[in-house]
Amino acid sequence: MRIDILSAVPDLLKGPFSESIVGRARNAGVADVQVHDIRKWTTDKHGKIDDTAFGGGAGMVMAIQPIVDAIADLKSQREYDEIIYLTPDGEQLKQSRINQLSLAGNLLMLCGHYKGIDQRIRDHVITMEISIGDYVLSGGELAAAVLADAIVRLVPGAIGDGESALTDSFQDGLLAPPVYTRPAEWNGHAVPDVLLGGHHAEIDKWRMEQAMERTKRLRPDLLDEA
Ligand code: 6GU
Repeated sequence: MRIDILSAVPDLLKGPFSESIVGRARNAGVADVQVHDIRKWTTDKHGKIDDTAFGGGAGMVMAIQPIVDAIADLKSQREYDEIIYLTPDGEQLKQSRINQLSLAGNLLMLCGHYKGIDQRIRDHVITMEISIGDYVLSGGELAAAVLADAIVRLVPGAIGDGESALTDSFQDGLLAPPVYTRPAEWNGHAVPDVLLGGHHAEIDKWRMEQAMERTKRLRPDLLDEA
């Protein structure tokens, strides 16, 4: 898998992709994440990538030219399954969408800034619009980092233990059950007996019950959806 990210603040994205699972996936050649500075494509002599909004009002709009040229340049090098615009008014991100995107070969992500991008780019170039939640970030970069991280960890080979991604919270529509490690008693608090017994069927049953109980208590909306 390859993910290209177009950003006005590419330095913001250096950290998230060089560590942990995504960092390892990149090093192992499982997934390639490339961050591009939109300024690289501007023809403005001062390097500007924003412009005033028709109709007036506060706030700038991302200029059309650098975005469209950047996307055309990248598209000439590979075919993208989706061209995703990260924006607070996009579709709210859910695990099901991440699962679907993890099957893609090439993804292009465009990070929104200022008041956003010209509506005509959204109408004619962008193929998918995603928000990571009902709150406003100062730009789409952190949202792109969230989206790319969630996708890359599902690509085969990114996580050592193949089963681990399938048992995540949300993967079966439920929150994950609690986990414990040594010592078996800490500050007078014991680990549930069933986990120490070595009876795998009992343990699986307990974990399913815990997942159901937690989901009912903390996220009843997930059960309604299922
Ligand atoms: Cl994708 N962008 C911005 N700027 N804010 C957000 C968001 C995206 N998703 C949630 N808030």
